Amino acid sequence: MNLDELNKIALGMVTPGKGILAADESSGTIKKRFDSIGVESTEDTRRDYREMLFRTETAMREHISGVILFDETIRQNAKDGTPLVKLIQDAGAIPGIKVDMGAKPLAGAPGETVTEGLDGLRERLAEYHALGARFAKWRAVIDIDGAEIPSGYCIAANAHALARYAALCQEANIVPIVEPEVLMDGDHDIDRCYDVTEFTLKSLFDELYAQDVALEGTILKPNMVIAGKKCPVQASVGEVAEKTVKCFRAAVPAALPGIVFLSGGQSDQEATAHLNAMNAEYKDQMPWALSFSYGRALQAAPLKAWGGKAENIPAAQGAFAHRARMNGLAQLGEWSDGLEAA
Ligand code: 13P
Repeated sequence: MNLDELNKIALGMVTPGKGILAADESSGTIKKRFDSIGVESTEDTRRDYREMLFRTETAMREHISGVILFDETIRQNAKDGTPLVKLIQDAGAIPGIKVDMGAKPLAGAPGETVTEGLDGLRERLAEYHALGARFAKWRAVIDIDGAEIPSGYCIAANAHALARYAALCQEANIVPIVEPEVLMDGDHDIDRCYDVTEFTLKSLFDELYAQDVALEGTILKPNMVIAGKKCPVQASVGEVAEKTVKCFRAAVPAALPGIVFLSGGQSDQEATAHLNAMNAEYKDQMPWALSFSYGRALQAAPLKAWGGKAENIPAAQGAFAHRARMNGLAQLGEWSDGLEAA
């Protein structure tokens, strides 16, 4: 492990004004996204769609620091034969790779999951490094359902697996993104999300310490502290920003270079407004950079504009460039509502 190199990569992932494009949808998830626009999901259509994003010059050069890829994509070439990884590197962004094998039912804990994918991971990481990946992602899923879910057992099992993954990444000189996602699907209020997120993060950092993971070469990808989608009382942008920053200040060590949020089902503009509020109001209280690693909140608009048709590529690239710019401004705390129409 070369910690200086890992730290440099991690800092590059949270370059001011930039964030990460999560384009690592598994085959099942990208099929769902394509179904929503009536496009068949084939190796070629997936390639065409992602090539279109990676060739969006202004977005990639100015607002995207790194791209998370799926196993298929890191091996794919653009239509003209250029490796997709090279398109990303040529735009000055860092290629990354999703390495987990998904959330599977957790034995003895009905309704909860543990993320799998540790078997053979050392060998896969070596191959991904040779293919150009300099960071990786592992997503653990923590559901909230009543008073019993999540169980301490589910959080402990997922934190342990995240730390084992992170240690293997650092051994391979790959920066681990550790993603313990507390879902926003339920009817819980924002304070329940706060408690579960705080407990999850503290458990995770305990495990990272126990397994000797260097925080200087690690990036955290969390949910924001937010009310469940079905909760009748939705928190304001100001409350989400305040509670999220408070929770992270209590649970996330200062040695970590950066935190990059998932969007998790927030609307495009909510995801931008929340990030902006945190950076605009609390920057001087935060020891880490706060940025984005959005999937849906960056891709929903270009996906819809594209619709699988070549003639729509300029409009789709325009939509992607717009969302990338809005989130880049939010990273600086310089976004405002009025810029959405501009
Ligand atoms: P969303 O921003 O759509 O939640 O996706 C981010 C991600 O990579 C989840 O693992």
